[in-house]
Amino acid sequence: MQDNRAHRIHAYGGPEVMSFDTVPVPAPGAGQVLVQVQAAGVNGLDWKVREGFVRDAFPLALPATLGIELAGIVTATGAGATCFKLGDRVMGPLAGLGAYADFVAVDEGKLCLTPAELSDVQAAALPVAALTAWQALRAEGDLRPGQAVLIHGASGGVGSFAVQFAKAAGATVLATASGSSRDYLIDLGADRVFDRHAERFEDHTGDIDLVLDLVGGDAVDRSWSVLSDGGAIVSTAAFDIAGRISSGRKGQFFMMKPDAIQLSAIAGMVASGRLQSAIAEVVDHAGLAAALERNRTGHAPGKIALDLTL
Ligand SMILES: NC(=O)c1ccc[n+]([C@@H]2O[C@H](COP(=O)([O-])OP(=O)(O)OC[C@H]3O[C@@H](n4cnc5c(N)ncnc54)[C@H](OP(=O)(O)O)[C@@H]3O)[C@@H](O)[C@H]2O)c1
Repeated sequence: MQDNRAHRIHAYGGPEVMSFDTVPVPAPGAGQVLVQVQAAGVNGLDWKVREGFVRDAFPLALPATLGIELAGIVTATGAGATCFKLGDRVMGPLAGLGAYADFVAVDEGKLCLTPAELSDVQAAALPVAALTAWQALRAEGDLRPGQAVLIHGASGGVGSFAVQFAKAAGATVLATASGSSRDYLIDLGADRVFDRHAERFEDHTGDIDLVLDLVGGDAVDRSWSVLSDGGAIVSTAAFDIAGRISSGRKGQFFMMKPDAIQLSAIAGMVASGRLQSAIAEVVDHAGLAAALERNRTGHAPGKIALDLTL
């Protein structure tokens, strides 16, 4: 068996608390498979966990390995794990931590087969962002054709999928992002893009049926006024939205749930070219800590991925 290298934190803090350690290879438990990770997606939760910002919601036993989604190869199966065979290429979210390691034991129910058309990097960039976009858009009920959806942070990992899913559902899609992402978002299907550095979306929007907030902060507070009667804000970023709801309005924090059937369908859409999946950049082990910082401070449209084979 190869070494199992893992990007871990031994304490909460900035990029300096990350270390690249050699740890034991885990044994898959009942209903689990051991995955040799080929690629892992970079997410905002990585640095939020590292900094300790979410330590109440996600209490950790330190040291802990970061990373919440992966693509790789099944190398062992635990008792009662029957969905996959050795050598299968799989992808999925962990609903926990540990993806930035050579080997991870994962509940098989969270995984789906990786379509042959997708590279491991492409597959690793899908689970969290695409499932979050799919589910959050439906958190207040199915989208109906003709509804208006405003997506804050539309150029990022989640937003890139949300724009496409909302458009495919027949919604009018409005988006906020940096102006440099305008052409990218129009290409994905956005009907109108507000440059967050130069335009106030609330001066131009009204009767919005759903605001999908992927940013948090004042984007939430500024959005109550643009909602239609019965409209709602669904946020993946504002943990505290329940305490900030404007009188007579609806708002909720949304947390993605692993769903292998949904993920398989989404991966199939990417494989067949019906869904675009943008990779902002691919980094190697040495570049991971800096990549987490770029996730925090700004990055090119789409997802950053770690290629563990580099
Ligand atoms: N609850 C859950 O289950 C769940 C799941 C996944 C992600 N999340 C969270 O959801 C958020 C989005 O995730 P992500 O992976 O899409 O992040 P991301 O790839 O970093 O995208 C966020 C984008 O928002 C844009 N942005 C930043 N500030 C903005 C503002 N004030 N107004 C409008 N746009 C702004 C940036 O693009 P520009 O530079 O183009 O403006 C950035 O690319 C993160 O907070 C993440 O932690 C939660």
